[in-house]
Amino acid sequence: MIKWSSELELGYPEIDIHHRVFLKTINKFLQELDGGIDDLKENLENLLYFLTDYVETHFSEEEAIQKKINYSAYAEHKQTHQKLRDELEGLKRKYWELVHDSSDLFLLKLFISNLKEDLINRWIKHTKNEDQLIFLNYDEDAI
Ligand SMILES: [Fe+2]
Ligand SMILES: [Fe+2]
Repeated sequence: MIKWSSELELGYPEIDIHHRVFLKTINKFLQELDGGIDDLKENLENLLYFLTDYVETHFSEEEAIQKKINYSAYAEHKQTHQKLRDELEGLKRKYWELVHDSSDLFLLKLFISNLKEDLINRWIKHTKNEDQLIFLNYDEDAI
């Protein structure tokens, strides 16, 4: 269970809601890891669909806002988003190639623990570190 904290709160409601939904979805997934292999795969696939949608909607909205407020590190931030997007695509490929048709529960659990370590923790760190900088100094009239 990953707790919401003030480190994650940016003070920009539209974006904070996205981050809260992200955390809620991740936590719901992490709480349902005890089921059988089929349930686990179904939950995991739903999570992968959610993340795919999230990178499209959330990342692009966040980038659009940065552009609007003339955020100085916009290009760098966009690049980081692209990296996170690519990592998700890599994990998805791995899932469909190696895990989806396998009946090896250990392999599935290993994939999930990698997903948590490599991707989810990194995305949370991105919010705490890089996203947090976006709204430190900005001209409110620009929005
Ligand atoms: Fe974000
Ligand atoms: Fe971001």
